[in-house]
Amino acid sequence: MSSAIETVQNLQGTIKLHDGTEIPQIGLGVYEMSNEEAEQAVYWALEAGYRHVDSAEWYGNEAACGRGIQKFLKARPDISPEDIYYTTKLQTNRSYDQTLKKIQQSLKDSRVDQISLYLLHSPIGGPKVRRACWEACIEAKRQGWVKSIGVSNFGTKHIEEFEQWGLEKPVLNQVDLHPWMRRQPIVDVCRKYGIVLEAWAPLARGMRFNHPVLNEVAKAHDKSPAQILLRWSIQHGFVPIPKSVSQKRIQSNGDLFTFELSQEEMAKLDELDEYLITDWDVVDVA
Ligand SMILES: NC(=O)c1ccc[n+]([C@@H]2O[C@H](COP(=O)([O-])OP(=O)(O)OC[C@H]3O[C@@H](n4cnc5c(N)ncnc54)[C@H](OP(=O)(O)O)[C@@H]3O)[C@@H](O)[C@H]2O)c1
Repeated sequence: MSSAIETVQNLQGTIKLHDGTEIPQIGLGVYEMSNEEAEQAVYWALEAGYRHVDSAEWYGNEAACGRGIQKFLKARPDISPEDIYYTTKLQTNRSYDQTLKKIQQSLKDSRVDQISLYLLHSPIGGPKVRRACWEACIEAKRQGWVKSIGVSNFGTKHIEEFEQWGLEKPVLNQVDLHPWMRRQPIVDVCRKYGIVLEAWAPLARGMRFNHPVLNEVAKAHDKSPAQILLRWSIQHGFVPIPKSVSQKRIQSNGDLFTFELSQEEMAKLDELDEYLITDWDVVDVA
């Protein structure tokens, strides 16, 4: 089982995945960034101490992320390419062969020797197609094109399928997770199988920054609402991947290790669940 429950102590701290690899517990998300923004934000994040970038075929900025990573590695020859954890995702589940082609394309576009983590972006496509695409991910791992394989937006029944198929399980499931969307049934099934939870929209996309409970906790710690939400996420053992194009906000989003939320504060935030959809919701597709 993973050690995700233990709280990581710094920006480069990692949590262990069930395949024996480790993932830096905080990453930079690059959804809806232009190429220029993504290249710059990736560079700033790595400079600030982040070692984890979350991109996707869908975002159209894999090449820009690769450029940001290369620029940073050139500036910091003391850091090895293997120290930077790079995730990308398959946009559409179609077939075994198509998935292998897409993985090779992502490798080429991102200009990395190996993708640290490759995800099926969604469960859409039905069980037969899902299984074929997952078997392609297993093959890509065997070939060494990707180090670890996982899923995103998978609901409880999709997670149970891996057990029924008797296939290797995903190392993590990337879902929208924040106090207003706790996805407890999905969290529970993932924990049952040692699958780590990665939190997309960990800031609830800023939709609840003015919430009185959040502001009360932020005031008590003299921290921003964003820092409180990210601290809540890491104290739950999640892997939050906040997105920001601002150098200042990228830095402050990583400044989470000089304070701790009390059990009472965690419980108050836990109570805010309202199934808030910030983007899409495909966890119940067939
Ligand atoms: N797997 C999936 O289906 C899926 C779906 C959505 C997202 N994701 C991944 O998860 C990442 C994060 O999710 P997200 O981008 O939807 O939302 P998010 O990280 O919850 O929120 C991003 C928003 O918060 C703002 N922000 C960031 N830091 C802030 C701060 N300290 N103070 C105030 N505002 C702040 C950003 O604006 P600025 O940029 O101006 O700072 C942006 O508008 C994505 O980038 C992507 O990598 C995955």
